[in-house]
Amino acid sequence: MKVIVTKNYQAMSDYATKHVLEQLAKKPDSVLGLATGSTPIGLYDRLIKAHQSGLSFQQVTTFNLDEYQDLGPNHPNSYRHVMDDVLFDHIDINKDQTYVPGGEDDKYQSACEKYEALIKDHGPIDLQVLGLGLNGHIGFNEPGTPFDTLTHVIELDESTRKQNQRFFDSLDEVPTHAITMGIKTIMKTKDIMVLASGEEKKEAVKQLVEGKVTTTFPCSILQIHPNVTVIIDEAASQALQPDSITEKA
Ligand code: GLP
Repeated sequence: MKVIVTKNYQAMSDYATKHVLEQLAKKPDSVLGLATGSTPIGLYDRLIKAHQSGLSFQQVTTFNLDEYQDLGPNHPNSYRHVMDDVLFDHIDINKDQTYVPGGEDDKYQSACEKYEALIKDHGPIDLQVLGLGLNGHIGFNEPGTPFDTLTHVIELDESTRKQNQRFFDSLDEVPTHAITMGIKTIMKTKDIMVLASGEEKKEAVKQLVEGKVTTTFPCSILQIHPNVTVIIDEAASQALQPDSITEKA
């Protein structure tokens, strides 16, 4: 696990963008795993700029980590809608090659199996972008999720619903369930980039990098993945031991 500490959010986003652009230069038909949340927005803004400067995404395929259950793709808080808004509508990617689990499918068990089959057909995912929940979740794999899970439906922790309430009018409107790539799905990706910014993430980052590998802190499993780069800003790095840091960029 490489740990890169950058000065601030902007520098974190710059570094992450470089990593994605290197991947696309190496393999223009890359399969990217994408995350929602506030953290990757700076990265997506920069990818849009790269497109405006000539980079094409026509050969790229994307798989998003997760989606709320029951919102439907037209709901402004559905991750499908958010991804269109923050990235896909602003680049030349073929929308048919951008996958988000669940969608309008109300038969969630078959939607999970379908998503795994799609990843198998198009994959493996070359580069997976991950954010970090305050409770250590990756995707929507909440504490206690077994490490051998594939795409599945999960009941969201109250803490996660409260954390995500900021995007909704009230807590009641935040869905209680989501569909998410499983931990095993994530661990099968070839390269993983974890982004975290701000002091509120410092404990989650410490567990990710230095904690015991345990389902209580789902992100800790990433310690045993062969190819992980953790890109964080100084604020998020505050609880780390100095020798855990690979590079200050
Ligand atoms: C959300 C998403 C995750 C995201 C995480 C962190 O609930 N399901 O995919 O990475 O929580 O979000 P943020 O980047 O807004 O802190």
